[in-house]
Amino acid sequence: MTAVTSPGAGRIEWVRTSCRLLASIAAEYEQARPFAGLRIGTGIHLEPKTVALLLTLKAGGAEVISTGNLNSTQPATVAHLREAGVTVIGEPTRDPEVHRADIDGVLDTKPHLLLDNGGDLFVRFLEHPYPGLLGGTEETTSGRKRLEPLRDAIARPVLVINDSPIKQFAENEHAVGQSVLESFIRFTNRVTNGRHVVVFGYGACGRGVAMNFRNAHARVSVVEIDPVVRLRALFDGFAVPDRDEALADADIVVTVTGARDVITARDLPALADGVILANAGHFPTEIDVDGIAGDPRVLKRVEATDGIATFQLITGRSIHLLGGGHMVNLSGPRPLGNSIESMDLGFSLQARCLEAVARGRVGADSCVVPVPRAIDEQVAAAYVAIARRRAAASPVGA
Ligand SMILES: NC(=O)c1ccc[n+]([C@@H]2O[C@H](COP(=O)([O-])OP(=O)(O)OC[C@H]3O[C@@H](n4cnc5c(N)ncnc54)[C@H](O)[C@@H]3O)[C@@H](O)[C@H]2O)c1
Repeated sequence: MTAVTSPGAGRIEWVRTSCRLLASIAAEYEQARPFAGLRIGTGIHLEPKTVALLLTLKAGGAEVISTGNLNSTQPATVAHLREAGVTVIGEPTRDPEVHRADIDGVLDTKPHLLLDNGGDLFVRFLEHPYPGLLGGTEETTSGRKRLEPLRDAIARPVLVINDSPIKQFAENEHAVGQSVLESFIRFTNRVTNGRHVVVFGYGACGRGVAMNFRNAHARVSVVEIDPVVRLRALFDGFAVPDRDEALADADIVVTVTGARDVITARDLPALADGVILANAGHFPTEIDVDGIAGDPRVLKRVEATDGIATFQLITGRSIHLLGGGHMVNLSGPRPLGNSIESMDLGFSLQARCLEAVARGRVGADSCVVPVPRAIDEQVAAAYVAIARRRAAASPVGA
């Protein structure tokens, strides 16, 4: 085996050895080679956990061509992947035009399978189709919403990882909540105790965010547009005020809805002095940062080097924004993202779903549909088996 020496290799190695499920799949793939002769194009966050996934696909015989998402690409990860033989197109960027060109760069290689994260690859493929695309996967809710209306045009199997119950509870609920809380503390080094946190959106991600801030002794309110989901938040013990009432009394606001313009310049008069805004939704459009920055009531915007921007208002009040409104758990100083184990599970679903498409086990009728139940069961059983082996190896009291 070649020793990989790029910067950040220690962290990448730590993550790789923690992805026990992917390691077992990679070992199997080295023999079975399900992707032999196939090119897989990926447009997913390039951070250390992705390395384990992309190298698992490579172990299965795939040629992997990847690019990152907006504002989450980590240079050490890119260097490591390139050294390990994965083609990485582009560099870290916040510029949507540059990102679009990188997506085109992936598609120019005419991949047989696409691993998408937000729908960019499939949407662009439809604008410039080529023969030979078998299908692929989409990681997120936001991507599923974009691709659903395009089913007739895509007409190939596309399995949506986010709709797996495993992804819903292990990553979206437990891991996003933990990492958003961790990121708030990482950015601000402020207490959460006694602070009023307002969470916009109470899907799986919002539930985890609300629960984790509550566990960190914050007072948490939920603003949710769906009355049934809002009722659920109430039953889970959260206050559910209307949005203006919630904002007026908020110390911290987290958006995690998948919608755009959730917080805009319209809200400036309602926001309390010193409020901290953060977004955990996929797109950096949940908080209309440009609209806020350009509003005449904003005197100036001060960028701190550690990812905190402060908008000073003509009224003398200040509003802080974390990570420029990009996903707070994947931006700012030393972003770690969601827990390794949750990603190990989600990425194992990715590998098994791409394998199912490559082997023709799912057809065009499975276009933008959840992960097949058999794959959920296979991945869940494998994770529990590894956890049991670990428990048996170190029995309590031994
Ligand atoms: N940060 C991360 O690591 C991470 C991980 C996974 C998913 N995500 C993203 O988080 C977002 C939410 O994901 P989810 O799975 O919870 O989605 P979801 O669709 O299950 O839940 C979103 C909720 O937000 C509500 N909502 C929509 N617009 C709203 C508004 N203007 N005000 C208040 N509530 C509103 C909806 O009614 C819904 O209940 C998506 O963009 C997803 O891609 C982020």
